[in-house]
Amino acid sequence: MDNFFQQWRTYRTIVTHGYMGHKGIADSILRQLQQRPQQGLDILDLGCGDAEVFFRLLPELTVNAYKGVDSSAAALDVLTERFNSRDVTFQLYCQDMMDFLSSYDGQFDIILAGFCMHHLSFDEKKRCLQMAYHCLREHGVMFIYDIFLQPGESRDQYLSRYLAYMHSNWEAMSTLELEAAGAHITGCDFPEEVEVFRQWSEAVGFEQIRSLWEGEWHSHKLLQLKRGES
Ligand SMILES: C[S@@+](CC[C@H](N)C(=O)[O-])C[C@H]1O[C@@H](n2cnc3c(N)ncnc32)[C@H](O)[C@@H]1O
Repeated sequence: MDNFFQQWRTYRTIVTHGYMGHKGIADSILRQLQQRPQQGLDILDLGCGDAEVFFRLLPELTVNAYKGVDSSAAALDVLTERFNSRDVTFQLYCQDMMDFLSSYDGQFDIILAGFCMHHLSFDEKKRCLQMAYHCLREHGVMFIYDIFLQPGESRDQYLSRYLAYMHSNWEAMSTLELEAAGAHITGCDFPEEVEVFRQWSEAVGFEQIRSLWEGEWHSHKLLQLKRGES
């Protein structure tokens, strides 16, 4: 991957202005979690960045422990600051999430994977789902919020649609920031269709797969994958 996430400020501008829908995503996840029995939750956040969605959920959840994994040290510095004023047990891993998943032998109630799986190769995405499944407790839930191809869309079509959308809607960004974001998207975005995720999820054993939310820009979506019937 490029070094876009080593300069966290540009991504932060995108998140703060709601360009990737973090508020809508957190609200949808919360509605689902409020239907579960309340207990101390063990949460794993893959490609956590500065954990915007987790911090939006936090006031409403009982958290036992949070673990965040990200390969960007800059993101984890910002996240450490965010945790400083909070009374939450947390542990951060500056590591590739595939390495983390392949070596971790504990289990979680909730796994978040926010806007990170599209950086993995086709085969890695499936393997990531497989490993995440095994890191979930029975009745555990994985939430994937990310970018997805529209049915039948090629990557090139997706890229021109995203860049056009970004240039006409992300008004708070400077020309330099838009250039950096555009270069990152062009070099590092490898989305798949929701249907591909659905097939992989069934194959690795998830019992329930639901699409919970879609952004104003329709390629931003939230999927819920449940382990076990509930
Ligand atoms: C678009 S940001 C998303 C951050 C956060 N999850 C959110 O929803 O705002 C993508 C994050 O995934 C991280 N990332 C991408 N590929 C990764 C990998 N293979 N292992 C660990 N972190 C990765 C990047 O460093 C970056 O912080």
